[in-house]
Amino acid sequence: MPNSVIIGAQWGDEGKAKVIDYLTEESDLVIRYQGGANAGHTVVVNGEKFVFHMVPSGIMYPNKTCLITNGVVFDAEQFLIEIEELKERGFNVNGRLFISDLAHMVLPYHKIVDKAREEYLSKGQKIGTTGRGIGPAYADKATRCGLRLGDLLRWDSFVEKAKSNYDEKKRLVEVFYGATFDLVFEEMLATYKKIAEILRPFIIDTAAYIFTAKQAGKTLLFEGAQGTFLDIDHGTYPFVTSSNTVIGSVATGTGVNANCIDDYIGIVKVYTTRVGNGPFPTELLDATGHKLQQQGFEFGSTTGRERRCGWFDSVLLRKAIQLNGFTTMALMKLDVLTGFEELKICTHYKIDGEVTDQYPTQLEDLAKVEPVYISLPGWTEDITGCRDFDALPENAKKYVAALQAQCYNLPYLMVSVGPDRAETIITR
Ligand code: GDP
Ligand code: IMO
Ligand code: MG
Repeated sequence: MPNSVIIGAQWGDEGKAKVIDYLTEESDLVIRYQGGANAGHTVVVNGEKFVFHMVPSGIMYPNKTCLITNGVVFDAEQFLIEIEELKERGFNVNGRLFISDLAHMVLPYHKIVDKAREEYLSKGQKIGTTGRGIGPAYADKATRCGLRLGDLLRWDSFVEKAKSNYDEKKRLVEVFYGATFDLVFEEMLATYKKIAEILRPFIIDTAAYIFTAKQAGKTLLFEGAQGTFLDIDHGTYPFVTSSNTVIGSVATGTGVNANCIDDYIGIVKVYTTRVGNGPFPTELLDATGHKLQQQGFEFGSTTGRERRCGWFDSVLLRKAIQLNGFTTMALMKLDVLTGFEELKICTHYKIDGEVTDQYPTQLEDLAKVEPVYISLPGWTEDITGCRDFDALPENAKKYVAALQAQCYNLPYLMVSVGPDRAETIITR
């Protein structure tokens, strides 16, 4: 079976978790390697819905192992909520879910700083973060004052480092941001002392684990979070997340050479969405955008915010293919386009009157983009029951072909026609 990586090709929420869940059946190890609880990954099985923020989306298969590796900023409290809920719903995670001792921790003060900073920034500067403490946790990692899971297991050292961070954040929030810092150090410590003991059996050297699994010929599935244009280097900076979401993160975020990957799968929503602020060339602020939002049930899985919606943007997609080296795509949410009389695909950008097929790297240029569209006729038939590509309405097939033609004719391994695991057309 091929080793695969799954990466969001747009601004997140493309449907990565559905594909992870689908491919877990033919994999041995599912690995979350970057991001944190800002991710909201939804899996639907027989109408029952599960949303994961910390736990890898492969956890629903009882005999598969899931790892959270060093590149992730780990939110222990969220993790415990999720494993508790999984237990209540009949899933045992013991002995098949592990976390890297090198993963940095998101602590409660990171969330306070995240929210205070967003509040403090002026309207045009606000990023619209998920408030999960992601930026401040990665900032501590880069500043080299972060706390890792390995520290949690050495209590005295944890207390000492946590105190110095706590004092710094308290001062930052109260004095600089002028906001409330209602976290009591001793209470935080008491909570984390308990958490340390619960987490102890989960904490391992995940790089060594993956290496051994690789040597033994196990099939690996890497689960990317967020999406290509939220990448801290290649995305729409500063309206991005604080990690690298593009392919290189697999190697740095796991500590294993990623040369074992066979399939680089770009998860592609067949229209475009974005949560939070920042440029979005094909955004539709009209009734059509509203209809996409409603039909796609486009609400953030983490924050519940309405997602901004627009037409499919192939300039963006071509850039994502270049950045990640996708070898194949999964085309998601085709059913959402049912009932639109006309569908549009953006093929080029017009910037200052000049037409280009290149994605501009400067935010100022991206903000000026006027999308150039091709128009296609829609369909009205319900396609959620289709399990075979040939069963799709002619116009749906034409839409997929037009999209593919704009994306270097990359093959696609599936077309998703509904949220449920079963609502999938496999084309590989
Ligand atoms: P992720 O972050 O990329 O894993 O995606 P999210 O879970 O945040 O958002 C995708 C949403 O679309 C979830 O509610 C999924 O259940 C849903 N979804 C996934 N595939 C399809 C599909 O083909 N059609 C429809 N209608 N919904 C889908
Ligand atoms: P999944 O894995 C969509 C966005 C936030 C905000 C920006 C920065 O479910 O696709 P952060 O909290 O990371 O500092 O917020 O990034 N964002 C996401 N948008 N899907 C996600 O994850 C996201 N994770 C972060 O909305 O614009
Ligand atoms: Mg999501």
